[in-house]
This record gives sequence, structure tokens and C-alpha cells, in this order.
Amino acid sequence: MTQIHRFPDPESLAIGAAAFLGQAIVDRVAEAGIAHVVLAGGSTPRLTYQRLGSQLAGAGLADGSLAFYWGDERCVPLDDPASNFRLAQEALLTALPADLFEAYPMECGQRPEAGAAAYQEKLRQAFPAAEWPRFDLVILGLGSDGHTASLFPGSPLLEEIKRWVAAAHIDELAGWRLSLTPPAINAARTVAFLVQGSGKAGAVRSVMRGEHDPARWPAQIVEPVEGELHWFLDEAAAVRL
Ligand code: 6PG
Repeated sequence: MTQIHRFPDPESLAIGAAAFLGQAIVDRVAEAGIAHVVLAGGSTPRLTYQRLGSQLAGAGLADGSLAFYWGDERCVPLDDPASNFRLAQEALLTALPADLFEAYPMECGQRPEAGAAAYQEKLRQAFPAAEWPRFDLVILGLGSDGHTASLFPGSPLLEEIKRWVAAAHIDELAGWRLSLTPPAINAARTVAFLVQGSGKAGAVRSVMRGEHDPARWPAQIVEPVEGELHWFLDEAAAVRL
């Protein structure tokens, strides 16, 4: 099931998305005692994370209720301004009591492939004996080229059917990244895209209404097997739908 949530502007998108995501997380904690949440990088999530942080801090959740993971990471130090961990640390995690959550950042180390394998082992500890990690919520962004996480057009990771986490050198960015693979994303209970700005309108249109071609529009590969797919869009990004 795919649901599209449209908002007039980035501020109302952040308010609406944080309310929805916060409630989904609180509900899951009530049901299972813990919520496993995958965070997106980039710049779009910042406003939503800031509101989500205050929401979760005030929800009266018990210590250890939340586990945060990353959908992808740039191979930079965790305190680098480009780090997706740093974004979440600044906008979300600092607002939460330290005992409320565990955070599991992706780290490339000296060899990205080894970093990917190490992260996969970390995930396997959270999801023992599972074929794929059943995250409760995966938050994703969308690039203007249709990429999501670090699944870029033409990426070999789009064909991955075994690994949960993989490393890829992104030529157009001249850098290495780690990313969850499509099956690891699609095993989630809920996947939520956060997309804002006119610069994304073409990609939103192509991903949601264009020919099915994930090699060209990687975000099309996100189809939760047994889960919900939500798109949170401001009007500027949704204008061509
Ligand atoms: C990253 C993200 C990436 C991001 C999109 C959108 O590491 O950059 O995971 O997939 O979500 O590129 O980025 P913006 O939100 O900055 O437009």
C-alpha cells in the first residue's frame, strides 16, 4: 500500500511527517517494547528530525525503547559536516535522553567493503536468524536523479539479492558510500520518503508516474514486501503529480 501525504511547504511537511513517524514509533514500542528505526541522510530530514526529537523525548518511552540505524553513509568521519550520522546526532539524537536509545552508525573504516560487512554483522545481532532485517521504519530521501539511500542510477547494488549492506564507489560524487540494499529496505514494516523542493519534482514524477525502470530511477525499487510505503511531499516536489 502506497500513501501520498502532501503539504504546502517544508515546515508543514516536517510537522506532518514528524507527527506520523513519531506516532508509528510510539505505537511500535507499545507493541514490541522497542522500535528499530533507519534514518536517512542528506539535508531534507533535518526539520523533521528536530520535531521528531522533541516528540519522542516527550512520549514517556522507557529506557532502551529505540534503536537507530542508517540507510546509508558517506565514507567520512562521523563528525564530518557531510556525515549522515552527524545530521541525525545534531537534529534528533541530542534531543533524546541518552538511555532512551542505542545508535548504530555506519562506519567505512579503511576498507568500505569491510565496513559494510561489519555493519551487516551488527544488524544480524539485532535481527538474529532472519533472512532480512525487519526494520519497523525506514526513512529515505530522494535525489533529483532518482537515487535513494546510496542506490544511484546504474548501481550494481540495485541487483543485490544476498547482502543486507554493501559499499559502492559513487563516481559522480568521487567517493565511497555504504548503503542498505534494496531487499534490506523492502523487508521493512514501514518505509517513508521525505521529499521537498522544486528540484525534486521531476524525479518524483518519474519515480511515481514514469515507466518502471529502477536502473534509471532507483527509488522505484523501494516496494516493501509486507509493509507500507509513504511519501511525504511538499507542494513544490509534488507539483508534477
Ligand atoms: C545521502 C542520502 C541521500 C539523500 C538524497 C536527498 O547520503 O545523501 O542518503 O539518499 O536522501 O540525496 O538529499 P537531500 O535531502 O539533501 O536533497
